[in-house]
Amino acid sequence: MNTLALQTIDVALGDRSYPVWIGSGLLADHARWRAMLRGRHALVISNSTVAPLYLDRIAQGLDGLRWASFLLDDGEAHKSFANVGRALEALGELGATRDACIIALGGGVVGDLAGFSAACWMRGIDFIQMPTTLLAMVDSSVGGKTGVNLPAGKNLAGAFHQPRAVIADIDTLATLPDREFRAGLAEVVKGAAIGDEPFFAWLEQHADALSARDPGSVMKAIARKVRYKAGVVARDETEQGDRALLNLGHTFGHALETAGRYTALLHGEGVAIGMLLAARLSERLGMSQAADTQRLQRLLEKLGLPVAIPAGMDAQKLLALMRLDKKNTAGTLRLILWRGVGLAEIVSGVGEADVLAVLQTAG
Ligand code: NAD
Ligand code: GLY
Repeated sequence: MNTLALQTIDVALGDRSYPVWIGSGLLADHARWRAMLRGRHALVISNSTVAPLYLDRIAQGLDGLRWASFLLDDGEAHKSFANVGRALEALGELGATRDACIIALGGGVVGDLAGFSAACWMRGIDFIQMPTTLLAMVDSSVGGKTGVNLPAGKNLAGAFHQPRAVIADIDTLATLPDREFRAGLAEVVKGAAIGDEPFFAWLEQHADALSARDPGSVMKAIARKVRYKAGVVARDETEQGDRALLNLGHTFGHALETAGRYTALLHGEGVAIGMLLAARLSERLGMSQAADTQRLQRLLEKLGLPVAIPAGMDAQKLLALMRLDKKNTAGTLRLILWRGVGLAEIVSGVGEADVLAVLQTAG
């Protein structure tokens, strides 16, 4: 079997269903994605790092359309309301009508902001995700969560708005820095840790191949994680229930990212440390065993991911940041914990003293 053969995974959402295509050479496969554009206007949103590398590959595919590009400066700090305003102004200058399409070419920062801009323009237009980081391929491009950061916290403004297609061209990973690649692996581990123990075991066996970016193993890992996420999203699009499980490690992770001013840790690194903190808290609450925590820590370490809270981050401050998480209800912490590998669960009313104790011993 050709391990790099195109994989198609459908996100089943009735008349808003869409394909996730994963494979090699997809950006230049213009006929495939051009067929998803309904109108005559397109705005490509990308950033100052990705556009010089990959905008050319898609530009020819836009021949005959009225199109423009809007480039963000690179970095999480630019996933801002101000830049959504600029993107909307770019659509205005283009004369974009309701059948216009936004194309998000880049990582999760570009994808989240582009999707939110698409949700806002004329109360919602099409957008296509062209993820170029591993993290965006396995997580942020799929499922329709879009948004931007506010000074008060991460992703606090946003909308559910599903893309019309996701085109994950694995060739783009060739230029992705090692640290970013590993951060994407954290999101792969997350899917397995939440609900797929056999996949977790597969990751343990293939950790070296994944670290070495063996294309067959990378394709398999992307497809399996996307298939898992697509299933969850199809069952619970707007996170009324089980979709919250996808946030394993996020409440801790977002607090770590915010405390590090979005520069000390990459999102995937925050998720890696956050998952381990969630595992330690689960163990402390008697929900899981030390062996589960150790198994997770070993896999994260093998994949070259951080497992400790960075020096200088104050536990009380982290707890205060965790109180702002979107999953909380008034006055109580609601966290994703686990009963062991593949058995995540939503737990409400978690005591702050237990959370603090875990934060204080994890540096
Ligand atoms: P990112 O978008 O900042 O990309 C990481 C870095 O890689 C950037 O410097 C970028 O310019 C660079 N880059 C991207 N593709 C490249 C390539 N092919 N070659 C070389 N460099 C490349 O970060 P990310 O990790 O992709 O995404 C993180 C963001 O995603 C966060 O804002 C997070 O909140 C969001 N997120 C959203 C969801 C969701 O469901 N919407 C899920 C997870 C994460
Ligand atoms: N990244 C979590 C979600 O998509 O729900």
